[in-house]
Amino acid sequence: MPITIRRLEPSDYLAVQRIFIGPKAIWGTFQLPFPSIEVWRKRLEEAPEGLFSLAACAQEEIVGTASVTTFINNPRRRHVGQLGMAVRDDWQGKGVGSALVQEAVNLADKWLNLSRLELEVYCDNEPAIKLYKKFGFEIEGKLVSYAYRDGQFADAYYMARLKK
Ligand SMILES: CC(C)(COP(=O)(O)OP(=O)(O)OC[C@H]1O[C@@H](n2cnc3c(N)ncnc32)[C@H](O)[C@@H]1OP(=O)(O)O)[C@@H](O)C(=O)NCCC(=O)NCCS
Repeated sequence: MPITIRRLEPSDYLAVQRIFIGPKAIWGTFQLPFPSIEVWRKRLEEAPEGLFSLAACAQEEIVGTASVTTFINNPRRRHVGQLGMAVRDDWQGKGVGSALVQEAVNLADKWLNLSRLELEVYCDNEPAIKLYKKFGFEIEGKLVSYAYRDGQFADAYYMARLKK
């Protein structure tokens, strides 16, 4: 199934909220269960300047999203982008995440002139860690008890990809 990547538009809020209904999407991210449609509508409509959000589409349907947050008002962090992403539960393991990270890296390297992409990922999120390593991200450190998840504290890794 071909995956196409385009910009995420404010009108895509229902599809994004649907992604974050998925237990696997919640488990891997820092979102809470029972996401609000209204909160997602506002988040997309009032996206801050410097946020670049992508949608992965299969047969016109949005099945994943990724965003690169940049620091346009901080001269000393202007070279940095923070990556976040989620693929809809029923579409994981089918190449959607790889297509999204490829485009996020292209955007960072070739258009935004970012030399450092960074992210946080739970230490037990094997698919995500494998995905990021595939694109040159390296583990820089461990964040102990970083977030509360499903009844216990979970550790996370800080990962980053430096442009060569
Ligand atoms: C992590 C996530 C973004 C990966 O996206 P995806 O579409 O499932 O990933 P892909 O199908 O492109 O696979 C990417 C790589 O992950 C690895 N992978 C995929 N599924 C895996 C699994 N079930 N177990 C172990 N590794 C797996 C493979 O190495 C794969 O690369 P390869 O096929 O070239 O070997 C997606 O699973 C997801 O959204 N998970 C829930 C939310 C989340 O964890 N977000 C990331 C927050 S940091």
